[in-house]
Amino acid sequence: AGARRGARGRLGAVPISEGIRKMSTASFPEGFVWGVSTSAFQIEGATSSDGRGPSIWDGFSADRAEACDHYHRYPEDVRLMKDLGMAAYRFSVSWARVFPDGHGKPNAAGLDFYDRLLDELAGAGITPYATLYHWDLPQALEDRGGWPSRDTAHHFADYAAAVHDRLGDRVDTWFTLNEPWVAAFLGYGSGVHAPGRKSAGDAFRSAHHMLLAHGLSVQALRSAGAAKVGAVLNISPVMTPAQVSDFDRPLSEEDAEAVARIDALANRQFLEPMLRGAYPAELLPLIERHGGLDHIQDGDLDVIAQPLDLLGVNYYTPLVVQAQPSEPADLTWPGSEGILFCTIPTAVTAMGWPIVPNCLSLLLGRISREYPDLDLMVTENGADFVDVVTGDGIHDVDRISFVEEHLRALRTAIENGARVRGYLVWTLLDNLEWADGYQRKFGLVHVDFATQRRRPKDSAFWYRDVIRRNGLTE
Ligand code: NOJ
Repeated sequence: AGARRGARGRLGAVPISEGIRKMSTASFPEGFVWGVSTSAFQIEGATSSDGRGPSIWDGFSADRAEACDHYHRYPEDVRLMKDLGMAAYRFSVSWARVFPDGHGKPNAAGLDFYDRLLDELAGAGITPYATLYHWDLPQALEDRGGWPSRDTAHHFADYAAAVHDRLGDRVDTWFTLNEPWVAAFLGYGSGVHAPGRKSAGDAFRSAHHMLLAHGLSVQALRSAGAAKVGAVLNISPVMTPAQVSDFDRPLSEEDAEAVARIDALANRQFLEPMLRGAYPAELLPLIERHGGLDHIQDGDLDVIAQPLDLLGVNYYTPLVVQAQPSEPADLTWPGSEGILFCTIPTAVTAMGWPIVPNCLSLLLGRISREYPDLDLMVTENGADFVDVVTGDGIHDVDRISFVEEHLRALRTAIENGARVRGYLVWTLLDNLEWADGYQRKFGLVHVDFATQRRRPKDSAFWYRDVIRRNGLTE
């Protein structure tokens, strides 16, 4: 009694295992876009060159922010991508290079870097995809209140216009925000990310102002003539432990409610304002309880819901939860009272993230069904594994199987009708993994941080072959 079909209606109806069996061919649609993603703070270094201002991340992680010195080594990095056959490169622009004080007069020398990078990419025949906000807020704006302050959204729209003004002749596709959930809830809720504030109310306010920044910047980009505009969200399928192997398993009323609530917080909090112009109804009481609703002003949702050309989806791992009345909520998940986050007995990456490739099919299927007119791109997918450097290379077989299995799941989603236009691996280079520093290895290319020497891993050569044949071998 009380059992129902869990979250099936929300999460989609492609039975996970069935899709895999049905797959007949390993090739991808003609024109499918293959490439890699990076972000400014994680690779550029040169944090005080050419007038760049400080960002909230500069001193936040224990490791120094020299990263991959990509700011100086971009010609080598672009050559690497060319040699590996990449058709597309998603990078982010550092707001603090363009506006050292967060707003005011743009710093031409900061924009020059992206100018050079784009010329280099054009010379290599690689299509750029630019992200405007990948978490590195100028410190000057944090000092004025950061994302909990509404002004930040307006400054962001001015920044978007300034970047477009200088680079718009060579960038077709713009992404406004990268993973706003992470930036708002880890940056202002749990404080695990910069700027390290710990307030549930600030996390919800930040999320709303990021959404507003998205809407205002889409308007600014459109009126400047931008060709294509989208956003990048981390969408995680939410399920109970039992559903990981059997997604159609019926859930108790309580578990269904737990799944729906985490889905509203993690996914629908961003998808629905952007794509439907409304917050999920069940979210509003949670926001109200954590600091109130005053920051959501009349007309905001109309601004937020600008038509989009493309949604970027980052997928790494699902969220696995169940009802647990005694579990207290933490600041990462305000509103998650009575819900337990579960571990599951599957293989994990070195980050400890469960590897569940079929969830990629599931989530692409879900979004395609809910938003049938929207083009999708997998803008990040990849894995941290411990690499062993040997005399004859870096044989990262785990990373190869991770990407391969996810590509099979993606192929299944496409076969079932998902409108997925491309796939970008996270990431080109081993880099500065935020609060975790340099110990995490997500790159297709190994970086020796003492010498800055780059060495493609086996996964890089394997991926080059995938790109060449536009698919897997069988
Ligand atoms: C998503 C973020 O966009 C990226 O910056 C990060 O490095 C990866 N996840 C891996 O954690």
